[in-house]
Amino acid sequence: MSNTGSKRLNINSSSAEETEHQGFLLGKRVKHGSVVALFGDLGAGKTTFVKGFVQGASSHTVNDVTSPTFTYLQIYPPVYHFDLYRLRSESDFLGMGFDEYFSPDNICCIEWSEKIPSLLPQHTIRVHLTHAGEDKRLIEIEGPWEN
Ligand SMILES: Nc1ncnc2c1ncn2[C@@H]1O[C@H](COP(=O)(O)OP(=O)(O)OP(=O)(O)O)[C@@H](O)[C@H]1O
Ligand SMILES: [Mg+2]
Repeated sequence: MSNTGSKRLNINSSSAEETEHQGFLLGKRVKHGSVVALFGDLGAGKTTFVKGFVQGASSHTVNDVTSPTFTYLQIYPPVYHFDLYRLRSESDFLGMGFDEYFSPDNICCIEWSEKIPSLLPQHTIRVHLTHAGEDKRLIEIEGPWEN
C-alpha cells in the first residue's frame, strides 16, 4: 500500500503562473480515481489551477482548458473537468448521471464544489483558493495524494 494518508499543504501564490504550476504539481501526483474539489470565489483561480492540473495529469499537452461554464463538463482524458457554477441542486447533478464519472478510471476536478457538498467521495482532495490581495492567492490543499 502506498502512502496516501491525508495531507495538508498551504501555498502562497503571487501570480497566475504560480497557481497553474501548483495545479501541475498536484496533477502529477494524483492517481486515477482521484476527485479534486475546488472551492473559492469568482476569480479565485480555480480554472487557472485546473489548467496546470490537466497538464500534470495528462500524458500529452492540452492547450484549450477553459471554464466549461455552459456545459458543466469538459473532458480531457483522463481528466473530467466540471464547473458547477450554474448547477441548481445536488439532485440535478445525480439526475445527469455525473456521479458515475467518479470512477477508478477517471480523475475528476470540480469547480464550485460548494454545490455538491454531500456528494463528494470520502477520498476527495480539497483545494481552497482565497484572494489575498491583487495577484496573491492562498492555496490550501487537503486530502490523500501520492508522495
Ligand atoms: N496568484 C494568482 N493565482 C491565480 N489567478 C490569478 C492570480 N493572480 C491573478 N490571477 C488572475 O485571476 C484570474 C483567475 O481566474 P480563474 O478563471 O482562474 O478563476 P476561477 O476561480 O476559475 O473563477 P470562476 O469562478 O469565474 O470560474 C485570472 O484572470 C488570473 O490571471
Ligand atoms: Mg473557473
